[in-house]
Amino acid sequence: MPLILKPGSRMVVATHNPGKARELAEILENRFDLVTAGQLGLPEPEETETTFEGNALLKARAAAQASGLVALADDSGLSVSALGGAPGIFSARWAGETKDFSLAMTRIEKEVAATGVADRSAWFTCALAVAWPDGPAIVVEGRLTGVLTFPPRGDRGFGYDPIFIPDGEIETFGEMEPTRKDAMSHRALAFAQLRAAIL
Ligand code: IMP
Repeated sequence: MPLILKPGSRMVVATHNPGKARELAEILENRFDLVTAGQLGLPEPEETETTFEGNALLKARAAAQASGLVALADDSGLSVSALGGAPGIFSARWAGETKDFSLAMTRIEKEVAATGVADRSAWFTCALAVAWPDGPAIVVEGRLTGVLTFPPRGDRGFGYDPIFIPDGEIETFGEMEPTRKDAMSHRALAFAQLRAAIL
């Protein structure tokens, strides 16, 4: 089977998060008949891989096998140069059970300061994987580099947005107009690759 997705085909988005499903549907320009893993009652696999691409593939494969449908999954996070790439794939986990990102941002500030390293560069990564139920799969990755700023600025966006200024910009993702963020983000970069590869 060629790795091509026909407009209108049914696809499962491997997320239990309705916000993320909506965002993915918008980026896919509503071309597909989307259903979420949550709506189908599929189990959420444990993210046991060591890379963004590995975890995105793991989630897409699990959803494709369980549903018999083509599946799309993502995995994303913030990597800090001074911390050797942390929190990386552990970005969500650094915010703890209560998903407290002010706590996670404070932890980054403290750990970076403790290294004594002056480098404040960081990057966001988004891996996107599409898996077909009969086995084939494709994974792409988008990266956006920038610098960290403390204290956090802006109440738009989510997660680590208030401490990240993309290269060439003056506003943090937390201050920036959302459409502007969406046009330049690691997610947009990954989707551009996915589109070129299979749409
Ligand atoms: P995932 O949902 O398991 O892929 O976890 C993604 C983690 O990275 C979450 O904790 C997000 O807050 C963080 N993250 C990913 N993309 C962004 C972004 O665009 N802005 C801010 N935080 C992000």
